[in-house]
Amino acid sequence: MTRSVLLFGQLLDFLSDPGVAGPTAACRHVSDGALWIVNGHIVEHGPRQAVLDRMPAALLASSTRYDYGQRFILPGLVDTHCHYPQATALASPGKTLLDWLEHSIYPAEAALADPAIAAQRADFFLDRLLAHGTTTASVFATVHAHSVDAFMSAAAARKLRMLCGKVMMDRCAHAALRDDMRHCERDCLNLIERWHGRERLRYSVTPRFAPTSSPQQLALAADLLRSRPDLHLQSHLAENQDELAAVARLYPGHRDYLDVYAQHDLLGPRCIYAHGIHLTQREVDELAHTGTALAHCPSSNLFLGSGAFPLQQRSSAGIAIGLGSDVGAGTSFSMLRTLHAAYLVGQLLASPPSALQAWYLATLGGARALGLEAFIGNFLPGKEADCVVLDPFALPELAARLEHAADLADTLFALMLLGDERCVHAVHILGEVQHRA
Ligand code: GUN
Ligand code: ZN
Repeated sequence: MTRSVLLFGQLLDFLSDPGVAGPTAACRHVSDGALWIVNGHIVEHGPRQAVLDRMPAALLASSTRYDYGQRFILPGLVDTHCHYPQATALASPGKTLLDWLEHSIYPAEAALADPAIAAQRADFFLDRLLAHGTTTASVFATVHAHSVDAFMSAAAARKLRMLCGKVMMDRCAHAALRDDMRHCERDCLNLIERWHGRERLRYSVTPRFAPTSSPQQLALAADLLRSRPDLHLQSHLAENQDELAAVARLYPGHRDYLDVYAQHDLLGPRCIYAHGIHLTQREVDELAHTGTALAHCPSSNLFLGSGAFPLQQRSSAGIAIGLGSDVGAGTSFSMLRTLHAAYLVGQLLASPPSALQAWYLATLGGARALGLEAFIGNFLPGKEADCVVLDPFALPELAARLEHAADLADTLFALMLLGDERCVHAVHILGEVQHRA
């Protein structure tokens, strides 16, 4: 049976990077628009009457309609880096990264040895993600194989497009969180078999970061990554100075931090590393020419005092960049609050993102950084119809500011600086309402 859905509102999406293509070519805005969705996929996008005129009469009559008036309808927001087991550990104290991991995070992750807690945490995380307008994410589980089963089952039940993987870590961590080569390989192969490519889910090979994996385990990660088509890889890179010192000590003989991953064949399309703050020009160039992406996690970087990510410098070097909440070092699930933080960090470096660049990063930019552009990220025909409806009038100070907005860019600027999850009015997954404010 054909299921036809119509969404009416102000449509906003991106066809390319406004910093590369220019704002007019990159950004589409239809102030009184309609999005026509059939069986969960976009069919038509455009001015309301034009779309209605193009629809066959029978489908026009049978369509379920959602009229969002003046509210914005955007592609679902994309969080390119987060940790679901840490969802209950936001704002846990820690002086810097390694201290925070040791004292706050490893205990929170160890609790997922209990499968019931993993299931509870996955449900909580995904419900909060949807309430914040995020529909796709690249997600770390824990070292426990059943933590991936819990997450993937919860994501499948909500019909979400998600990436997740079992954390690989065989050294330099609490004994309860360490795996070994034999169990790690067996668990990862089983999880890939069980989840990769099932419904909208994909497996992401997840070595936590170089300090917690032996060279043998990094080599295993590369073997796993090449073992099936379209597998992904996620990890961390150059977030903090003490981490850089640990990598230099544990991996002597490498040119720099990135070289550890490069020599283990862990760079390329569908590979994404969080942070990448403290990099040399050589490392920046290697990320760009291998097509390896970075997740910019500004609220996490501020919370842990990790440093200021030079977004414009990395982006103009040609690196694909997405935004990450990095929950639980990040202080919010919200991509709007993450944009806010990205703007403030950018200001400190005298090169903040423009409003159009910011909303590109939160949508198509994130989809590209994850290698998922074929499925999500904008409203092109055939894409999966995940959408977030944002209501700027839900916040009195934002509504007052918008009364004298100069143009669309100014409106989107105010929305990124003043908006937050209270603006999330509804979320549609494959066309159907999955969350309502
Ligand atoms: N580096 C290694 N593990 C982690 C983590 O869980 N969070 C952050 N922010 N950085 C990391
Ligand atoms: Zn992280």
